[in-house]
Amino acid sequence: MMRCLNGGFFISFEGGEGSGKTTQISQLAEALKAEGYSIVVTREPGGTPEGESIRSVLVQRDGGDWLPMAEVMLLYAARLMHIEKVIKPAMEDGCIVISDRFSDSTLAYQGYGHGLPLDNIRAIEALTIGAFKPNLTFMLDIDPKTGLMRSHKQLIVETGNKQTEDRFERLNKKFHDRLRQGYLNIAKSDMERCRVINAKQDIDALHRQIKNSVDTALKKQSIVENFKTSLQQEVRISEIDGKR
Ligand code: TMP
Repeated sequence: MMRCLNGGFFISFEGGEGSGKTTQISQLAEALKAEGYSIVVTREPGGTPEGESIRSVLVQRDGGDWLPMAEVMLLYAARLMHIEKVIKPAMEDGCIVISDRFSDSTLAYQGYGHGLPLDNIRAIEALTIGAFKPNLTFMLDIDPKTGLMRSHKQLIVETGNKQTEDRFERLNKKFHDRLRQGYLNIAKSDMERCRVINAKQDIDALHRQIKNSVDTALKKQSIVENFKTSLQQEVRISEIDGKR
């Protein structure tokens, strides 16, 4: 049975290096596909050809050394393309979109991490993407030491110790502590949308917790959708009655 969500649903995954986002995203996508949902998995920076070019500039360090504020502008240029060309169209088709990182990454990395004023980032956000936000955000929380060790090991396995996508990972421990605290602050300020998850749990336990949370949110969304539909029907009936 194919399931289509009226207006779609948008989930983002956030976290520091080595928090296990990618594994959790593919497990969640598989589980939801098995239940008949149409799933679009995407990532930031990236998600469109234009965004992937910006990713190469920022993440693979082949485009010079950008100042944090210039990075923010590039990230939001990529994000705007991502929303308009990929996320919104997929949501309009009733899909669940799952993005590996979204706007919280900019607030956490460029804001809390690099020390750019949060209000300046929010101003650029308001100018480019307005109030567009995910419906649900998972913040995979792990202590930076464990996360960095995990991600370093993975890099060696994937590249045979060649350094590729390491532009942001080579920053120091204090940076990663600020990043973690930043994510926790963001979550505290938006508890309706954000779920902080202990990423040190084993992969399956983590998956179960995430899946339960998604199920609850989807149920709530369909209750709201059904309620809206029945309200619209009532309004239509009373309009018809009024005309009689
Ligand atoms: P990933 O490899 O975890 O997908 O992320 C790529 C890197 O880009 C990661 O080190 C975090 C960084 N990044 C930012 O600094 N700001 C942002 O807004 C985004 C989306 C990513």
